[in-house]
Amino acid sequence: MEDKTKKVSTSSKGLLQSEELYEYLLETSVYPREPKPLKELRAVTATHPRAMMGTSPDSGQLMAMLLTLVNAKRTIEIGVFTGYSLLLTALTIPDDGKITAIDLNWDTYEIGLPIIKKAGVEHKINFIQSEALPVLDKLLETSDSEGSFDFAFVDADKINYLNYHERLLKLLRVGGIVVYDNTLWGGTVAMPEESVPEWMKPGQHYTIELNKSLAADPRIQISHAPLGDGITICKRLY
Ligand SMILES: C[S@@+](CC[C@H](N)C(=O)[O-])C[C@H]1O[C@@H](n2cnc3c(N)ncnc32)[C@H](O)[C@@H]1O
Repeated sequence: MEDKTKKVSTSSKGLLQSEELYEYLLETSVYPREPKPLKELRAVTATHPRAMMGTSPDSGQLMAMLLTLVNAKRTIEIGVFTGYSLLLTALTIPDDGKITAIDLNWDTYEIGLPIIKKAGVEHKINFIQSEALPVLDKLLETSDSEGSFDFAFVDADKINYLNYHERLLKLLRVGGIVVYDNTLWGGTVAMPEESVPEWMKPGQHYTIELNKSLAADPRIQISHAPLGDGITICKRLY
């Protein structure tokens, strides 16, 4: 009998059919255009035991494209880790742009911080060490926050994705974009529960619920792309 757990993707190639194809994509289209500070950040992150958590450079490239398409100036980032997606955002938005970056952990942010400083973009970052949910709630209490953000990237704490979604739809302006990462959860969303490794089961459950909910949400236009571990791009319609 086929071992379906083998279909769970844990390697860097994400959900692509082969490691070679992923390498081809990176070498041809991504690495030649990846800014130097981001290469440096990847290099210092590579030795971290949880290096796999970092946003992949191909997902980063799409994110940069989306940021420029919406002329993002004010953004929110949930889940910083060593700062790949954060630095990418900081390098992409204008000099007077601002990122509200939230993470429970200061230690991992500190790993990337010297590179962020060297790149001259630290002034665009407001790093908040906290659970993300209360920060979003606090932002919503501020009178000028509603509808004032252009872009959000959510890459932490699966359990709360739908809670983040409700708050982010208020914080984003109409036409603004929120990107959710890991929305195919290693391919487990399409697997019978009994085939999924125990540690991935809660994520499988929450991701399936999230995907159903986003697909049924009339307030947004969506694109569910099989990039990296799956990303869902949502544009606020009204
Ligand atoms: C997948 S990593 C983020 C990767 C990052 N976007 C990058 O490009 O490297 C997830 C991060 O979320 C943080 N995190 C987990 N739960 C959180 C929560 N409830 N609120 C805020 N941050 C959280 C973790 O500390 C971790 O650094």
